[in-house]
Amino acid sequence: MRLDALLSRLGFGSRTEVQKLIRQGAVLVSGETVRSPSFAYSGGPVMVRNCPADTRLERHIMLYKPAGLLTAAEDPAQPTVFSVLPGALRSLGCMPVGRLDKDTTGLLLLTTDGTLAHRLIAPQREVEKVYEAVVDTDLTEADVRLFREGIRLSDFTARPAELVILSPRQARITVTEGKYHQVKRMFSAAGHQTLALHRRSFGPVRLDETLSPGQFRELREEELAALYHAAGMR
Ligand code: URA
Repeated sequence: MRLDALLSRLGFGSRTEVQKLIRQGAVLVSGETVRSPSFAYSGGPVMVRNCPADTRLERHIMLYKPAGLLTAAEDPAQPTVFSVLPGALRSLGCMPVGRLDKDTTGLLLLTTDGTLAHRLIAPQREVEKVYEAVVDTDLTEADVRLFREGIRLSDFTARPAELVILSPRQARITVTEGKYHQVKRMFSAAGHQTLALHRRSFGPVRLDETLSPGQFRELREEELAALYHAAGMR
């Protein structure tokens, strides 16, 4: 891959901008200054303006989404999840795997592998998502049965979901689909308003308890392997 193409994909600027950087001598590959934008990069550490560049083109991230961010690539008026991620992830085309509402917190996966993302959210794959919810009124065993049977909503019947009551107004819910406002709509159909919603896991991947809201990390090899398996790709 040409060095200028690599740096541009990594978010260092447009092709013209990175060509200028390279010609200025601001880019080192394996410790040597490279002044030719067409240099064929085949590996080795890259430094740009004395800072090491992360040259990975394939990225798979878990983000602890805080409340208040939109799950979108960009928005003219509101901050998105990319406002807490390095710019390189956006220029690499890293995309969220499904969406969380603006006020929902917890695990959001992002990947540069579009096929993986699409397969993980495909309804027929029935990948389990686990949420914890706080609602405004006491939950009952009748709710547990209702969720288990599959709640009728105005435009579709939700697939059977597992509801485990953790305290009178707090529950863990496992769903295998991800329609717009799905969990909130299910609670609403059962007569409860959702006051807080937090995603604990997506398929085989659990939110890393050591992350704080707004923090992220790369997926570990075993997490990624399990995700590809859940997507039926490996
Ligand atoms: N269900 C919802 O209602 N909201 C979310 O953010 C995720 C699932």
